[in-house]
Amino acid sequence: MHKPDFVNAIGVFDSGVGGLSVLRAIRAALPFEKLIYVADSGHAPYGDQTEVYITERTLTVGQWLVESGVKAITIACNTATVVAARSLREHTALPVVAIEPAIKPAVAVTRSGVVGVLATRQTVQSESVARLCALHGTQVRIVLQACPGWVELVEQADLHSAQTEALVRQYVQPLIDQGADTLVLGCTHYPFLRDIIQRIAGEGVALIDPAEAVARELVRRLDANTLASGSPLGPTSFFTTGDVVQVQRTIAQLWGEGVSVEALTSV
Ligand code: DGL
Repeated sequence: MHKPDFVNAIGVFDSGVGGLSVLRAIRAALPFEKLIYVADSGHAPYGDQTEVYITERTLTVGQWLVESGVKAITIACNTATVVAARSLREHTALPVVAIEPAIKPAVAVTRSGVVGVLATRQTVQSESVARLCALHGTQVRIVLQACPGWVELVEQADLHSAQTEALVRQYVQPLIDQGADTLVLGCTHYPFLRDIIQRIAGEGVALIDPAEAVARELVRRLDANTLASGSPLGPTSFFTTGDVVQVQRTIAQLWGEGVSVEALTSV
């Protein structure tokens, strides 16, 4: 069942192309590793789906990676993490590193005492985020803001249009008006909207993206399990459950180099 190209690789997945913001950090931290990226774009956005659906997709994609022979998995999707990381860990003995909204680091840097969290509907409603807020929000105010529509913009690589600017402003401005000086990018699609978010929020507002921390944690887990690979430079392979032509176009734009995306039809 193992695919030769996947053996010893690291599997990284997201509901779509957003996890490329995490993959970028992983590639920079681990140049010698073979990386397999799955964009579950045929089922995005997760953030507007039920917990049952998100769990089912996380287990299905995770299982496909496990059966293909990867040595570790990174969930590059906050929504899948807060809903289903625990289930995936119960289903595999492989190391599973998962991104979650960077509320703790944001609380550490705010000076105004107001932190805004930009995330999907499912993430802002999740028990995990409620727990993070209870744990870290005793001295500061944390304002959760769902951003429906942003994922779709990034999936279409529509990063600079007037429509994008209007939809970004709709969710960022209220947080700034409430005094937030620190915004958590709590969905992996949102770093691709960073320029426009920063312009609307103002230069003095800190945007917190935990992608590099996730890559560091992955390095630590590989080292702890003596799983790290040496040279040569590792290839990066892309798969999608969505429309290959559309996803390839978007990935080429966001990844910044010519890529070939393969259809993943079995899941
Ligand atoms: N990129 C994902 C996240 O980090 C999910 C976006 C979605 O599919 O709603 O939450």
